[in-house]
Amino acid sequence: MPRTQVGIVGAGPAGLLLSHLLHLAGIDSVVLEARSRDYVEKRVRAGVLEHPTAELLREVGLGERMDREGLPHEGLSLRFDGADHRIALTELTGKSIMVYGQQEVVKDLIAARLAAGGQVLFECTAIAVPGVDQDRPAIIYRDPAGRTQELRCDIVAGCDGFHGVTRAAATGLTVFERAYPFAWLGILARTPPSHHELIYSYSDRGFALHSMRSPALTRLYLQVPPDEDLAGWPDDRIWEELAARLRTSDGFTLREGPVLEKGITPMRSYVVEPMRYGRLFLAGDAAHIVPPTGAKGMNLAVADVRVLARALTAFFQQGREDLLDAYSETCLHRVWRAEHFSWWMTSMLHRFPGDDAFQHRLQLAQLRYTVGSVAAATSLAENYVGLPFAQ
Ligand code: FAD
Ligand code: DHB
Repeated sequence: MPRTQVGIVGAGPAGLLLSHLLHLAGIDSVVLEARSRDYVEKRVRAGVLEHPTAELLREVGLGERMDREGLPHEGLSLRFDGADHRIALTELTGKSIMVYGQQEVVKDLIAARLAAGGQVLFECTAIAVPGVDQDRPAIIYRDPAGRTQELRCDIVAGCDGFHGVTRAAATGLTVFERAYPFAWLGILARTPPSHHELIYSYSDRGFALHSMRSPALTRLYLQVPPDEDLAGWPDDRIWEELAARLRTSDGFTLREGPVLEKGITPMRSYVVEPMRYGRLFLAGDAAHIVPPTGAKGMNLAVADVRVLARALTAFFQQGREDLLDAYSETCLHRVWRAEHFSWWMTSMLHRFPGDDAFQHRLQLAQLRYTVGSVAAATSLAENYVGLPFAQ
């Protein structure tokens, strides 16, 4: 029967980075991923790396392509009242963010794992994780040929995202949740960005976001109703709506181009506590979800596995369990800070169905204060570039 020290379910940023960090500490792991390599390397998702995330990737030998191809940003715009209001991230915090697609991070991680002889088993779907409460953990999974297999391990890391199976193995977890009455329609378009920085736009027609992936690729998002059907959004309608929501009084022009990718993402805040059940440790989206407005999801996944890798290193190298015992609490401090920031950005920038003129004026007052006060702008900036990691 195959055996490893840490069985990792999911080859997203959390699972792959955990496997890489464990390898650097001399700890053996196997990553099981339900999808194909091609699928996970092409899945368009997050784009903003916090300063601590980018620093960590450099420290562990994963920064080379990011620093060559990524786009460092020193500011962003909040657009409202028909104009841009820049938050000078670097001037206010001394730090910058890196715009580098999540799938590029995933590609770099897979390449590094495979080059080091690491085991990342694609098209292997975990079905159950028995024995995590009895110190005899295993992962039961279906291999690419459809056969049921078992991987024995000392620890299971549940890095299988929000729709994974590992969280269900834990009983007695408390769920904290908030749903939002909207979703995001996102597109990737072959056209140069229309502005050199990200634009978060609050408009009468709803929220819109201008982001990018490269000097030739623009990433754009629109707030839409939660149950929206993509079929109702032909490309022309998307461009028209984006132009309307990003309009300024000084004639901003949105550059259009062929739409390469299109999708709808529901918005949710969700946390389970604790992030541990016996020998099962949950990390990333498996344990918590934020609405994307604060660009925090992938960064939280990275922060979790940094804590987990350190705790597992102390466990395997010194037989210490104290850091494993502290894992959930250590992570949850950062998780709840990010939950608050993401909820706050989401509430400030979206139009809520049924909200009235009073609500609208409150949101504008908050936006004007945020850009007009150095204290308030600095608060947004330090959260956006990422607070320092736990020691
Ligand atoms: P995932 O990336 O979801 O990885 C989990 C993996 O587990 C997947 O590969 C899945 O196929 C696999 N899996 C699931 N079930 C099983 C199973 N049973 N067996 C084996 N494998 C399984 N975050 C940011 O930080 N910044 C942003 O700018 C940002 N923008 C976003 C925009 C969009 C449109 C979306 C959708 C998300 C965005 N996020 C952003 C959030 C970010 O993408 C996620 O938080 C991040 O992917 C979490 O990583 P993860 O490794 O925990 O989970
Ligand atoms: C992107 C996504 C986000 O959720 C965000 O807040 C900023 C940028 C992006 O995909 O580029």
